[in-house]
Parts: sequence; C-alpha cells; structure tokens
Amino acid sequence: MSGIGDKFQQETKYEPSRIPRHKLLWDAKPALYKEYPEAQKIELPSFDPNQPMSLDRTLKQRKSVRDFQQQPISKEQLSYLLWASMGIQRVENGYEFRTVPSAGALYPIETYVVVNGVRKLEAGVYHYSIKAHQLEQLKQGEFRQEITAAALGQGMCQTSAVVFVWSAVFERCKWKYGQRAYRYIYLDAGHIAENLALAAVSLNLGSCEIGALYDNQVNAILGIDGSEESVVCMAVVGIPA
Ligand SMILES: Cc1cc2nc3c(=O)[nH]c(=O)nc-3n(C[C@H](O)[C@H](O)[C@H](O)COP(=O)(O)O)c2cc1C
Repeated sequence: MSGIGDKFQQETKYEPSRIPRHKLLWDAKPALYKEYPEAQKIELPSFDPNQPMSLDRTLKQRKSVRDFQQQPISKEQLSYLLWASMGIQRVENGYEFRTVPSAGALYPIETYVVVNGVRKLEAGVYHYSIKAHQLEQLKQGEFRQEITAAALGQGMCQTSAVVFVWSAVFERCKWKYGQRAYRYIYLDAGHIAENLALAAVSLNLGSCEIGALYDNQVNAILGIDGSEESVVCMAVVGIPA
C-alpha cells in the first residue's frame, strides 16, 4: 500500500543533483518564540534535583508508565521537566541554545501543558514561555475530560498530573528547509519527548508519550489553528502507581 507518506519520503530526499540552494530571506525569518502578551504569567521556581540520578540508571529505568497515583507533582518538578525537555541552556554569540538539538537551531516546537494536578498551580491549559521560563495561562479549570477524549480516550490523560502537548510552528523550519522541514520537525519533537522521559525518571516520576490523538481536538484545546501550527505529539507525567 502506498500513499502520501511514501510520496513525501521520495520527494523530500536530498540527492547530489537535488540540493535546494535558495537564498534565505532573513527579513521573512519567522519569530523564534511564541508569546502570549495578554496571558497571566506564572513564575517557575528554579529547581535542581537533590539527588541527581546517573544517566546509566536513568536509561535502565525508563519505560512507559500509564498508571498513576492520584497525587499532584510539585511546581518545582514541573519547572525542571519544562527546562530539561526544551529550556535554554546556553547563549553563544547572542543566540540561545537549548537542552535539545534542533535542525538549523530553528526550534519549531512549542510546549503547552494541561495541568491536572500540580501543587500551587491552578488546573488549566498553559503555554511554556521558554525565554522567560514562565508559564502563560491560556485557560483555567479542568481539562482532563477534553484531553482524554482528544487522545482517543486513553485514561492516562485523566489520571496523570500533567499532559505535555507539543505543537509545531511549521514555517519556522520550512523557511529554511521547505517541505523537507517536516522530517526535521518530527525528529525535533522526538528529541524533546525523550528528554522529558529521562528527566521524569530522574525525578522518580513516570511518563508515556502519546501519538494516538485527534489532532484538531487537541488543537482546539490549545486554541491553535491546525495549519500554521498544529499538535505533533503529547506525553503524560505523574507519580507512578
Ligand atoms: C511516537 C510515539 C507514540 C506513542 N504513542 C503512544 C500512545 O498513543 N499510547 C500509548 O499508550 N503509548 C504510546 N507510545 C509508547 C509506546 O507504546 C512504548 O514506548 C513502547 O511500547 C515501548 O515501551 P517502553 O516505552 O515501555 O519501553 C508511543 C511512543 C512513541 C515513541
């Protein structure tokens, strides 16, 4: 069976005779950071795990966790998970680099969190402001039911403490790579998801990545349009049962 995916794979191959050499339009370079100027900002506490876990132990313990205690995680833990999954880690020549690699350092992925249970943080939908290391509150209240329904009814979205939702602002990467950008966007998201999974283990938390979702139902929860920006994947995090 062949279809659009096979066509995409063939048509976006680099060949020695087919490397796009278009001039980059620097004036049209999309903004690197999405901002919600009207949203209420929530400071995230700085946080270092008390007993850092070795990488070897973290790798051996990582597994998908789908059953959680109905216990909240702390704001400090959420802060660390956000930073570890895609926060700014160094500045070189004025350019901010992150804990994850990204094709061309274009960083097309945005992070949102649906908060079910985090101490000292209202339930709701938030956008992660990477530059300020803050949360921007987009919606208040319980979204467990909606996010679970949008994940094909997967119950872990209901019982986890937080659902991380990663979207892509496609033009950030297409600006340089054209249609090949889609390969890089999905790879970028995978790096972020694995950083989150390992960071969660290091805090004795559990996580599970989610690719089975109704894209536009998730987009509606985030309030994004589904074409310029659309969900790529999600992950739940919580205290393992
Ligand atoms: C891209 C991707 C999408 C996934 N989607 C789901 C999902 O929707 N639901 C689920 O229960 N697990 C999902 N998983 C988790 C896999 O089922 C899991 O990683 C796999 O069974 C291996 O088990 P392990 O992670 O415990 O080693 C996904 C994993 C990846 C990498």
